[in-house]
Parts: sequence; structure tokens; C-alpha cells
Amino acid sequence: MTPAERTSLPQSDAIPPELATRIVDLDAIRRNVQRVRAITGTPMMAVVKADGFGHGMLEVADAVLSAGAEWLGVATVDEAIVLRDAGVTAPVLCWLADPWTDLHGAVARGVTVSCANRQTLRAVSTAARATGVQALVQLELDTGMSRGGSPTLDWDELCVDAVMAEADGSVRVTGLWSHLALAADPAPTATEAQTAAFERGVATARSYGLRPDLVHLANSAGALEHPHTWFDLVRCGASLYGIETVADRRHGLEPAMRVVSRVIQLRRVAPGTGVSYNHAWVADRHSTLVLVPVGYGDGIPRGLSHGGEVVIRGIRHPVVGAISMDQLVVDVGDHPVALGDEVVLLGSPAAGEPDAQEWAAVTGTIAHEILTGLGGRMARRHINKEQGTAL
Ligand SMILES: Cc1ncc(COP(=O)(O)O)c(C=O)c1O
Repeated sequence: MTPAERTSLPQSDAIPPELATRIVDLDAIRRNVQRVRAITGTPMMAVVKADGFGHGMLEVADAVLSAGAEWLGVATVDEAIVLRDAGVTAPVLCWLADPWTDLHGAVARGVTVSCANRQTLRAVSTAARATGVQALVQLELDTGMSRGGSPTLDWDELCVDAVMAEADGSVRVTGLWSHLALAADPAPTATEAQTAAFERGVATARSYGLRPDLVHLANSAGALEHPHTWFDLVRCGASLYGIETVADRRHGLEPAMRVVSRVIQLRRVAPGTGVSYNHAWVADRHSTLVLVPVGYGDGIPRGLSHGGEVVIRGIRHPVVGAISMDQLVVDVGDHPVALGDEVVLLGSPAAGEPDAQEWAAVTGTIAHEILTGLGGRMARRHINKEQGTAL
């Protein structure tokens, strides 16, 4: 590093004021919607729960609807109400209500509430009578996930109660659905068994007189790999954010989130220099270390302390030493770097940059957890927003 390099700084207007930013490309999300649609040719419920997997629920909702998705799916009633109150008129399903949830706002706003037991159905029906608005309901059957959904043994009585609630006018059952447990396995056997169980459940519901508009089963993996799961609607989350969920398969999905920060300090170290807490990494040669102002308090997993890499000036460099709450250190060796250089933490694998799936592999988790965990003090900016027309 020359003295001039030590003191010269890039123009400050070229550097954003925030130390770290999540840049969400809404066009990438639109293209992912279109890629899934090109494969399935089936209407789509875009899953925008958990703040759009960390990408921004409202911005993502606008993008997916403008790209042709017909429905939005969220977990909680509160998420659904935020969508409605932002002006979303598209159908919205929420699937985590219980008998103690305040359902009046959802029913009054025409949000479709999923029920997996008689008690929740009764609560929806009561809220409908109180608000004077017929509640839109979908029934969830457990076909092998053993997580949400009505157990098969309770399905008949749930269907019977739903028929009675339809008869008293408080409820209309617009859909029947279930969730896949093993669709990420390209071998179809387990998913075929769930599909068969779902078809039996749908037949049972029809035998009691229910006439749903829609039945749906597929998640992203089902949509991309198992055509027999498509039915009337595919319910996609991960694929819209560029996560490839099927083992060893690639469908041309693009990560939509880029995470960038910058070099805020440089230090030349000698062999034997220990770095960060507990000196878990010790330099074995003369090298330049740079400081990047993000850490686990912003959702950067500590597990990247060993095996994590970032890109500076187009070159990958390893994270060294323990990642702290607010800071991490990168070993750039003898490569030229300067204060203010951009540090790409997450980017495009096509450009040789790490993505959430790479981080997940290093840290032993899934990309969904990485993406929903990012945040803290990091800013978030959306690009290609203006083309959205749905909100
Ligand atoms: C009930 C339900 N349906 C659909 C999805 C979407 O699944 P995927 O993200 O695998 O597409 C999820 C989770 O994200 C879910 O919980």
C-alpha cells in the first residue's frame, strides 16, 4: 500500500451512507415467477410470508402480482391484513389462525382463512356472524407432513362442520389444500403417496357436499419437479427468491437479494498475528486484513467464520477469525484493496459470488433461514420497483 493509497478516498457520493445494504431486484423475482409459470402452466399462489422471505413483503407482493401470480399466501392473519391495508385486492390465504386469533379484521377484509380443526372453523364462523361478512375458508388436510393440517382421522368431522357452516351462510369453503414434506427429493414415491392421500381427502370432502373452487398441494419443489401435484394452483415461496430446493437440480432461478458492505479499515499483519475473539485464526504469512462492518447482529451467521467467503474487486477472499456481532475480518493477502471498496457478501453465483445456498452449505442450514435471518441494522433497497403495477 503506497502512502497515496492510504490517504486517497473515493468520492463520497459514490458510496452509500449506510454501512451495509440488502439490494432486492424485483425484476429477478418477476423472472422467477415467469420461469415457474413456464414449467407448470398453472396458476400460482406466491408465498410472501416472513416479510417476503426477508425481501420485503409489500414490494414482493407488488412484483409477483405484476408478473402474473394470482394469489398471495402468508402464515399469519396480521401479515394478510398488512397486505390488504396496503391496497392488495388479490386473493390472500393465511394458514396460521387458531381459535384465539382475532379474525374479525381478516374476515371483514375478505382474507381467506385456513382451518385445520373444528375449533378454528367455529371461530371463523363466529367472526363472520359478528362482522356480517361471509368468511372465505380453505381446509387443510395433513397428507404426510405431520405438521399442520387436519389429521386424516379428524377430516370427516371437519368437512361435516364446514358443510353446516356453509348451510348457515357464515362461511364459504373456497379451497382444500395440503403441504408436501418430501418434494425436494427428485424420486417421486413419497410425493406420489401424499398426492394419493390428498385426492382421497378431496373426494371425501366432495362426498359431504363441499364444492371448493381450488385444490392445491405443490410447493416450489412440487411445482418444479412433480407435475401430479399441480392441481389448480401451485404455492411457491423459495423458487421466487431464487432458492433451488430440489437436490442437484437447477431450474434457472435467480437469487433476488444482493448484500453489500464496504471496507472500513485495512491492516497489514505479520505471521503469527491472531485475529478476533479467541484468536481462532492466526496469520501464517504477511497479509492484508480488511474490516467489514456487519456481523451476526445483522444476520450474518457466525458459522461463516470458517469457510465463508466474500468478493472484493471481483476476487473471492476468506472470512477469518470469529465473526462478531457487528464486524467481520477478511484476509485479502497481497491483493490491492482500498478503504471504501465494495464487499459483496451475497450476490450472483453466475458471477462467481456467494449466494444464500452457499452460506447454507457452509453453515449447515437452508437458504430460507439465511434469507429470513438477514436484517438487523442493514438497510434494504429495492431496484426495478417502478414496473410493479399491482399495488
Ligand atoms: C404452507 C406453505 N405452503 C407453501 C410454502 C412454500 O414452500 P416453498 O418455499 O418450498 O415453495 C410454504 C413455505 O414456504 C408453506 O409453509
